[in-house]
Amino acid sequence: MRDYLPRGAPARTALVAALVLIAVLAAWSGWRAWQLRSGATEIAGAGLLGGDFALTDQHGDSRRDSDFRGRFMLVYFGFVNCPDICPATLQVMSAALDRLGEDAERIAPLFITVDPVRDTPDALKAYAANFHPRLVALTGDQAAIAALARAYSVYYDKAAGGDATDYQINHSSIVYLMGPDGRYLTHTDASASPEALADAIRAYL
Ligand code: NI
Repeated sequence: MRDYLPRGAPARTALVAALVLIAVLAAWSGWRAWQLRSGATEIAGAGLLGGDFALTDQHGDSRRDSDFRGRFMLVYFGFVNCPDICPATLQVMSAALDRLGEDAERIAPLFITVDPVRDTPDALKAYAANFHPRLVALTGDQAAIAALARAYSVYYDKAAGGDATDYQINHSSIVYLMGPDGRYLTHTDASASPEALADAIRAYL
């Protein structure tokens, strides 16, 4: 074994330093994997999630993230033609807000499309009417949506098998709670119940 070790004290010190670094990285990645598996909501670096936007709502009005400062934002990315996850999640968001009573006024629920080609303001208007009366549904140009999705670490990709107008989009399904300063606070995934989401929000009110 000793024969494989580099000769000389400096070389051995460098080797030990490298081994320590490897051990630290291995421990960190193991901890990260556990954290992601366990659904822990405090993600390292999560404070960097989110970002500025300038989009158009379902009434054709331009909306910026700064318009919502002073209120919490409940942010969800999806698309109108999504068969199940999006409507289910928007229903959970609406029901969670109902459970919060008057406190819900402090929260702006936002639905941001990942399908801006089909999800025009008119399409969003008809869709949003199915959910919470204060739901703000947002669209924009493809580059702006792509940049914002990246800022929220949201994945989306057109599913195989469709054509130019009839297609599905695979997308991550996470509800983000952003604070009155616009910064990330916590998130839940699409399987959260209205009670769980309401509790997650209430913890920050
Ligand atoms: Ni969806």
